[in-house]
Amino acid sequence: MKALPRASRLIALFCFSVFLLISFTFTPSYAADVGNCLLCHKYPGISRVDEEGKLRLFYVNESIFSNSVHAKVKCEGCHTDIKKIPHDVAKKVDCLVECHIIEPSSEKKFSHKDVKEFLGKSVHGPIDKEGKEKKYIEDYPTCKDCHDNPLYRPLSFFKKVRPGISEASLGRCRVCHKKEEFIYRFYNHVTTRLHKSRNPLNIAEVCARCHDNPEIVARHEMSTKAVFSYGETFHGKAARFLDERVPDCLDCHISKGESVHQMLPKEDPASSIHADNKGKICTNIDCHPSASPKLAKYSVHAEFNLKQSPAQYFFTVFFIILTGGTLLPLMFIILLDIIRRFFPNATIGRRK
Ligand code: HEC
Ligand code: HEC
Ligand code: HEC
Ligand code: HEC
Ligand code: HEC
Ligand code: HEC
Repeated sequence: MKALPRASRLIALFCFSVFLLISFTFTPSYAADVGNCLLCHKYPGISRVDEEGKLRLFYVNESIFSNSVHAKVKCEGCHTDIKKIPHDVAKKVDCLVECHIIEPSSEKKFSHKDVKEFLGKSVHGPIDKEGKEKKYIEDYPTCKDCHDNPLYRPLSFFKKVRPGISEASLGRCRVCHKKEEFIYRFYNHVTTRLHKSRNPLNIAEVCARCHDNPEIVARHEMSTKAVFSYGETFHGKAARFLDERVPDCLDCHISKGESVHQMLPKEDPASSIHADNKGKICTNIDCHPSASPKLAKYSVHAEFNLKQSPAQYFFTVFFIILTGGTLLPLMFIILLDIIRRFFPNATIGRRK
């Protein structure tokens, strides 16, 4: 083949360089993926059957990851043991590792160590006040026990619909600030952290694994299957229909202004559910502000069984019988009426 003239070769080289430049600039690049992990992990098929015969999926959805709370963290920021590619079997991720992000007010490297401290002081901490391991230590939740939502799901499935408290109030920032990107970034950062990322039902699901597990409930001498009993009351029933106005577990079990991780047992005088403080939960400005503190006598973890609350139990049974006893005969009569309308001359047996 005849060699290209020198000029056309130069032009070809130039075009190729421009092409490379453009493709590097315009391929969607995810800030987090410096180590090019998605080169392999973006393929949905990437998986293996593990020793127990369970299929493990190693696929990471790029767009879900880049919308998640951890979008700014590099893959290696959490998977710290992966240093070369191809890589060996990865170790478990430590949620308390320091990452490369700097927290602006302290200018320190960011980590979740504070959360661990809050958790340590709470009823869920595995170490008691004397510094000894509590009994049945395996029952105490770790970060990943409660934060086990598919890792790369957006913070909340509501978030897409309601990014901030109200998108409309963005207009207020525009009065003084001119750069859209500036406004949007700060607005979103603050407002998404001002409302909860899970609805009451999702929260209850997190707790159910332990608090509805009869063995754990018995071992730790708790008086109720807490999620089940929450579900028996009005609060829980409304939560099941995705009502977000009803209190979830955190609304009652966290004192005002404390971290959600600092839940205390009811014997602790600082606990929101301590006998002296209970009244304040119900009469809180967002809930029943005009109620008397005595409202707290109402059992919010009520299991309506014969043993614990015979009065409520018979009341419930009475209403089930009353409702069923009224509705069923009524429906039967309507059914007979419909049949008669369709078959005006039908008879059972022969007419004489
Ligand atoms: C060359 C392709 C390739 C690249 C690049 C790659 N991985 Fe992997 N990764 C794999 C394969 C294949 C598996 C499944 C390995 C197996 O059979 O256990 C895997 C498994 C994993 C696992 C699960 C391991 C386990 O056994 O629990 C993690 C975590 C992981 N990769 C993280 C990363 C991170 C973080 C990066 C970037 C720094 C990365 N990978 C880059 C191919 C790749
Ligand atoms: C905020 C920390 C964090 C970041 C950032 C992160 N991961 Fe992970 N990743 C985890 C945790 C936690 C697990 C669960 C397994 C464990 O406990 O180690 C996990 C598991 C995995 C698994 C194995 C899934 C399984 O079922 O075992 C793969 C593959 C993986 N990550 C790839 C990636 C890739 C690729 C990136 C970057 C796009 C990334 N991860 C970024 C924390 C992180
Ligand atoms: C008993 C369950 C539980 C455990 C254990 C737990 N978390 Fe949480 N965490 C939650 C709940 C519930 C929320 C609030 C979710 C919401 O806003 O809807 C939360 C919120 C968070 C937040 C958002 C900030 C905040 O406080 O609202 C971070 C960060 C966090 N957890 C990190 C951790 C880390 C790190 C650990 C381990 C040291 C951990 N969590 C252990 C239940 C738990
Ligand atoms: C009445 C005018 C006004 C409105 C409305 C306003 N800002 Fe500001 N904002 C300012 C001024 C002036 C400063 C600089 C203040 C200073 O440096 O002390 C500022 C500073 C800031 C800063 C700090 C920037 C930095 O680098 O220190 C942020 C973040 C910010 N505004 C976000 C917002 C957001 C988000 C909204 C809408 C919810 C908003 N502002 C509404 C006037 C306003
Ligand atoms: C309306 C407020 C409220 C809500 C919502 C709520 N709790 Fe409670 N919870 C309380 C009060 C008050 C007590 C103390 C009961 C008492 O004084 O007998 C309590 C007690 C408990 C106990 C201790 C039971 C025992 O006696 O040993 C657990 C565990 C518990 N709650 C878990 C949960 C979980 C999990 C959820 C969410 C599914 C939840 N709570 C929702 C108010 C609430
Ligand atoms: C991995 C298991 C586990 C998960 C998940 C869990 N807990 Fe617990 N929780 C426990 C154990 C174990 C205790 C008993 C601690 C003790 O007595 O020392 C406890 C105790 C409590 C108590 C104190 C009960 C008392 O005696 O007053 C409350 C309140 C509570 N949990 C609420 C929650 C809520 C709300 C959630 C969900 C956000 C949750 N827990 C998730 C294991 C768990």
